[in-house]
Amino acid sequence: MIVLLLGSGGREHALAAALAKSPKLTRLIAAPGNPGIAQHAELREVPVDDLEGIVRLATDEKVDLAVVGPEAPLVAGVVDRLKEAGIKAFGPSAAAARLEGSKAFTKELCARHDIPTAGFRRCRSGAEGHAAVDAFGAPVVIKADGLAAGKGVTVAMTLEEAHAAVDDVFAGGFGEAVVEEFMEGEEASLFALCDGTTALVFGEAQDHKRAYDGDEGPNTGGMGAYSPAPILTPALVEKAMAQIVRPTVKAMAEAGAPFTGFLYAGLMIEANAPRLVEYNVRFGDPEAQVVLPRLKEDLLDLLVAAVDGQLAGRKATFISDAALTVVMAANGYPGAYEKGSEIRHVAEAEARHDVTVFHAGTTTDGERLLANGGRVLAVTATGADVREAQARAYTAIDDIDWPGGFCRRDIGWRAVARLEE
Ligand code: AMP
Ligand code: GLY
Repeated sequence: MIVLLLGSGGREHALAAALAKSPKLTRLIAAPGNPGIAQHAELREVPVDDLEGIVRLATDEKVDLAVVGPEAPLVAGVVDRLKEAGIKAFGPSAAAARLEGSKAFTKELCARHDIPTAGFRRCRSGAEGHAAVDAFGAPVVIKADGLAAGKGVTVAMTLEEAHAAVDDVFAGGFGEAVVEEFMEGEEASLFALCDGTTALVFGEAQDHKRAYDGDEGPNTGGMGAYSPAPILTPALVEKAMAQIVRPTVKAMAEAGAPFTGFLYAGLMIEANAPRLVEYNVRFGDPEAQVVLPRLKEDLLDLLVAAVDGQLAGRKATFISDAALTVVMAANGYPGAYEKGSEIRHVAEAEARHDVTVFHAGTTTDGERLLANGGRVLAVTATGADVREAQARAYTAIDDIDWPGGFCRRDIGWRAVARLEE
């Protein structure tokens, strides 16, 4: 099969590495890709938001399957456009991608189908937003409706902060906000592979969203992750599938927008019960960098089965080893940061410590590897348990020479502490 992979982050590098293992793969093309993805794929300089360019590339290269990594082209309808052109594409349609693209859509779907999640109000003006904040009281959560790349959410501990967040949403050009009840608990992520009707469990993970050690500092796209997630016991996974994921997939099919692709359920776990925080309609980043290296199955085979509606009776299985990834980010991230600093000894660290360094934001200048983004590398190690994986990841990181970057030194602390209980 000729496969086209869309995207250029660490998640797409992990997808490329997994696809490359498939005996069914004859050619992997990536657009636009990155220097890590280039270890497995031919790169084409087509940006993911150029839908026409993507369709043309897929047609010209006679692609058998397109695999979409990031959410923006999914919400923009890249899968619909590819299918119209007669090309199989893995990922949800624009209509199904509303599960991530619109918080209000998802909250109303949950309400209609009794899917456990935080109580909420849709607010179409500042006045409605302020009234909802007063009704819920603090702490309370304010979300801008629409894709805001993680920046549209404020968890307000005080009423003052909450009212300011409402003003920000409407001043920021979003026409709508969702104000939500604050949920206590521990967060974990559950992934499901969906074919429109069937949803298979596709791994679990926990990530660290804050920039600094001790889960402090500003929110980021994710500074590290590990899989499995010790809090998500098999019983809890089954509960989340039965109460949250399967009813959602069923509701989407009934609404004429069947969900095909990776459904990423962000869960809040409290008192042994899962509630939905949010959906993403693609794999997590950096969660893909810890879940995919544990997959025992042929990824390409499973993705084709999903697109063909053939997942019933299938199973995704994973090695029992733990995987842990540490993100190395440019100094200053998630605020302003510089591009272009040199990174050395990546290949040596990989070879010496048996880790995989996924590229998220890199570029090359001749032989030199340069930082080219906020999150730059994700160093993934496996081990018999999370403590072993953590130790190996940090030993490898210590061999990477990159004065322009930093990482957290405590990724996995919660899971390691659980081992010691
Ligand atoms: P979201 O983009 O909806 O995932 O929100 C980003 C982060 O905000 C989540 O990962 C949670 O840490 C937090 N969050 C969102 N909604 C809630 C809620 N209702 N209660 C508590 N925390 C929340
Ligand atoms: N790591 C969080 C996300 O992919 O949205």
